[in-house]
Amino acid sequence: MDHIWLIGMMGSGKSTVGRLLADRLNCPFYDTDADVEEESGTTVAEVFEDAGERTFRDLERTTIAEVAALPSGVVATGGGVVLDHRNVEAMKSSGTIVLLAADIEVIASRVDGSNQRPLLADGGDLALRTIADERDGVYRAAADAVVDASGSIDDVTNAVEAACSTL
Ligand code: S3P
Repeated sequence: MDHIWLIGMMGSGKSTVGRLLADRLNCPFYDTDADVEEESGTTVAEVFEDAGERTFRDLERTTIAEVAALPSGVVATGGGVVLDHRNVEAMKSSGTIVLLAADIEVIASRVDGSNQRPLLADGGDLALRTIADERDGVYRAAADAVVDASGSIDDVTNAVEAACSTL
């Protein structure tokens, strides 16, 4: 398989950019959070609330392994996918990993008011900044390419396409 795996923080635009890129490349689009929701029959937020983050991470890992085996496409992942090295291995061995890296202010404005992001439920902006700081090194270590995701959806999609064509 030769997927384009999009990783990055909540609000970095993985799903929107991924859908547009898949459209342009005329290939399948996969969204692992949506797959987890389909599998569990509920929302990500409810999985966190009812069963806990651990259960969500198990479902996410299973989904990543399943998607890795599907026909080549563009994959939007959940922001915490890199926390499990097994996910990073599965992504690396089935394609290219592109990090959508946006300024924290841009991310904060995009996720502002979202009630679908359980990790921000209690801490808001501070939680977002803490998570971004904690994960920055992990994201960069996993990525084959890093793209500035602060701009418009079109600009970011162009940048991902360009980055992939040079790898
Ligand atoms: C998470 C990000 C979410 C979702 C879950 C956990 C994270 O996905 O997978 O709430 O750990 O950053 P998005 O990045 O699509 O918001």
